[in-house]
Amino acid sequence: MIVTTTELFRHAYGKYAIGAYNINNLEQTVGLFRGNLGKIKKNEEPVDWQTAAPFILQISRGARSYTDKRFLEAMIRAADEVFPESVFAVHLDHGTEETCYDAIDSGFYSSVMIDASHEPFEKNVEITKRVVERAHAKGVVVEAELGQLGGVEEDVVGSVCLTDPEQAAEFVRLSGCDSLAVAIGTSHGAYKFSGQQALRLDVLKKIQAALPEGFPLVMHGSSSVPKEWVDRINAAGGKLGSTSGVNEKEYIGAAKQGVCKINIDTDGRLVWCAIYRETFLKQPEDFDPRTPGKVFMPAYAEYIIHKNKMLGSAGQLQSVTKILKKA
Ligand code: G3H
Ligand code: 13P
Ligand code: ZN
Repeated sequence: MIVTTTELFRHAYGKYAIGAYNINNLEQTVGLFRGNLGKIKKNEEPVDWQTAAPFILQISRGARSYTDKRFLEAMIRAADEVFPESVFAVHLDHGTEETCYDAIDSGFYSSVMIDASHEPFEKNVEITKRVVERAHAKGVVVEAELGQLGGVEEDVVGSVCLTDPEQAAEFVRLSGCDSLAVAIGTSHGAYKFSGQQALRLDVLKKIQAALPEGFPLVMHGSSSVPKEWVDRINAAGGKLGSTSGVNEKEYIGAAKQGVCKINIDTDGRLVWCAIYRETFLKQPEDFDPRTPGKVFMPAYAEYIIHKNKMLGSAGQLQSVTKILKKA
């Protein structure tokens, strides 16, 4: 069932975070849906309500143009039929104004992110406000961003511009956005921190205090970049440098301070890369695309289950579903 993030955030606020996972292809989609229902090997397995979780499926502009946005839509609609117990939002990740309008008008997305965080404050408000008006008219919710995450290169991390709590309050009031992505020390990609850095939970606390009660916050760049998967990639011929990501133990701390949506893309890519490399390394005579796919889908489902446990969303699906059915 496709829902907006409003229902999901209301249920999660202050307790746990909803995993927002990017997809680009069929194998990621199947692994993602299985994992969120606590299924691993087969679509037909019974739902494991102890681990089943609501989730957000995110589509980036890159994903939309990788094949054709219509393939993604068709694939997700099919997954919704194959996995009828699923509860998820379909979200446009890092949209421009133009892609936001396209997603809103498609009637398929329940949520869009307008990313005008690189613009000066007033311009960011102006653009976000326009998108909010168009989105709300069609029942779509809007995530905006204020502050800037670090770049992927380690030397850019120094120029991170953390979200200012007072500005965040002003931004939310003026733009009318439904949730706000904040910069509290994370960055996109596999190379996040040089050395042991933690999230700026002190800044997050101030942002939460400055905003209206219950206002949902979003954390981008939240992959944990597990050493296990990086090592497996490198052991299978990859050349990833020394990396570290967000400590998964910090997810719940962030959730308690109003973070309702935690974005994970890189970790999924690492699982994909390790499995595909390992499979063909072990079976160099094989060239069937289904051989690694068959290993990847259960492995990704298991990874999603693990991630949802760390986010606190595992086991929440039943209660969310009951609330949605009553409404
Ligand atoms: O935040 C960006 C996401 O990881 C999407 O990445 O633009 O390469 O699809 P992408
Ligand atoms: P990661 O690169 O840490 O997975 O972040 C993904 C993200 O923020 C997508 O918007
Ligand atoms: Zn992001």
